[in-house]
Amino acid sequence: MSKNENTVIAIDGPSASGKSTVAKAVAEALQYHYVDTGAMYRAVTWKCLEEKIDTTDPKAVVALVEKIDLAVGFQTGKSRILVDGFDPGARIRSEAVNEAVSRISAVPKVRERLVAEQRALRGHADMVMEGRDIGTVVFPDTPYKFFIDASPEIRVQRRADELQASRDRIAKTLERRDRHDSTRAESPLKVAADAIRIDSSDKTVPAVVDLILKHIRTRHFGG
Ligand code: DC
Repeated sequence: MSKNENTVIAIDGPSASGKSTVAKAVAEALQYHYVDTGAMYRAVTWKCLEEKIDTTDPKAVVALVEKIDLAVGFQTGKSRILVDGFDPGARIRSEAVNEAVSRISAVPKVRERLVAEQRALRGHADMVMEGRDIGTVVFPDTPYKFFIDASPEIRVQRRADELQASRDRIAKTLERRDRHDSTRAESPLKVAADAIRIDSSDKTVPAVVDLILKHIRTRHFGG
């Protein structure tokens, strides 16, 4: 990495692996900015639904993505995305968005546009960026790559607790999203060859955060 480039810590992993909580805590510990790339795919998905376009038709999705205005930046140390000047806020976490986001994020033009925005953020600050393809595609040159995983049972349990929803329904949605995210042609979810993989199934959040911080310090300061 050249001297004038800000540091990027890539944290990838499947849905409900605990990576968001961990990524936020690592950012806070290091006083780095925090970037949630899933929120960007969700914001574009929300806009597609808002405009009532057919989300199963990639051509319709591309036509919309080419015409909308996206403004990605930071607000109080966290990434924020405005779509045509509007912040969709909690609307990006709706059931309808959950259901459609894997389809939208599989469209190459959508990824192209959002990856360009994600790369541009590096010019502003050191950051912890979480997603699915940060270590493999967005910043393959960063030496700090972590892949957070957990067993399917634990992931279902965590998401069911978080949403107060039935385990059966959550299991179905997670299984479908895993399949979509891992098998899509464009930037599928996979572990970068040089990533440190952490199974968080039987670890607390502070334990995972500690592990990551130790790895970063060892690499950064050589011990
Ligand atoms: O992390 P999340 O559940 O909020 O992500 C929502 C969706 O966006 C997820 O189904 C996969 C997709 N995504 C992606 O394809 N690439 C990323 N870097 C981040 C998320």
